[in-house]
Amino acid sequence: MSLKGSSLISINDLTEEDIQYIFHWAGFFKTAAQNKISLENVVDFKHSRNHTVFLVFAEASTRTRTSFEIACHRLGVNVVNFSDLKNSSLAKGESLEATMTALDALGASAIVLRYKGRKFQSDCGTPIINAGFGSYEHPTQALIDAWTIQQVRGKVKGEKVLIVGDVLHSRVSNSNLKLLRKLGAEVALCSPSALQPQDDFWQGVHCFKNLNEGIRWASVIMCLRIQTERHDDSVGLSIASYRDYYLVGQEHLKMFHKDGVLIHPGPYICGVEISPTVFDDSRCHIITQVKNAPFIRAAILTRVLNLELKEDKLPADGKK
Ligand code: NCD
Repeated sequence: MSLKGSSLISINDLTEEDIQYIFHWAGFFKTAAQNKISLENVVDFKHSRNHTVFLVFAEASTRTRTSFEIACHRLGVNVVNFSDLKNSSLAKGESLEATMTALDALGASAIVLRYKGRKFQSDCGTPIINAGFGSYEHPTQALIDAWTIQQVRGKVKGEKVLIVGDVLHSRVSNSNLKLLRKLGAEVALCSPSALQPQDDFWQGVHCFKNLNEGIRWASVIMCLRIQTERHDDSVGLSIASYRDYYLVGQEHLKMFHKDGVLIHPGPYICGVEISPTVFDDSRCHIITQVKNAPFIRAAILTRVLNLELKEDKLPADGKK
């Protein structure tokens, strides 16, 4: 089933056509922004203004929440930030489902939701966009990551993506494994045994014991944050020893593909997962990912809200 008018909970909800649509329009929005062209002529703002998107963030966020908000503004869609949940009726014991039903009744066209639980399916009728569910999935981030790889490397098919770090607790890596495989990339990982994933769909994914070996194999390195907030006592991770074995620094990049791509969804902890010097390397695209976020999220919103777009409004020299 297509994403048109539907929820985006998992990468499994996306058809090939949805992915191509999102990448195509993200490129279009990026070109428009680079040429300082307002989307007013591309999107029917009169139609957009009938839409209201609620951003419901029950967990901390910088990039995801703000880039969704920017995307709504650029599309002319009304946006309501609903992130001060300590001051909402949830704090009075109301369930998340009842809250969603209330937002639906208030006229939500879509709800962008980040929360601690693993899976949330609602009967409220409004499409829900997963902006990070516990350690389950984060499909919009994976779309940003794959699109960044495509933009820099020219393709995703055949790329060798090494995921380094806390894969066990990462919703980003779960979505990335599914999406990158759909797009024909090869995925391997490198992480301490206590942080290796247990889900069935990770079975058979090669795990490099040695970071340098993995880096020599890869065309893309994707570092992840250590999700200490999700660790229980059984993880027993020493940050000092993690740094010794898994931090990606300038020394490691010496053995990396000369046109490779280094990414990290952020937030990143410099000195633990990556060294600050990697930002000076031309293969580091961590900031490109952040820049790409509003374009991908605007394209996701146009699909979910079923907005009509007029491609011919972009000047020919601005088209990609
Ligand atoms: C990630 C998230 O929140 O899942 N960040 C993001 O959305 N850009 C990764 C993380 O928290 O480590």
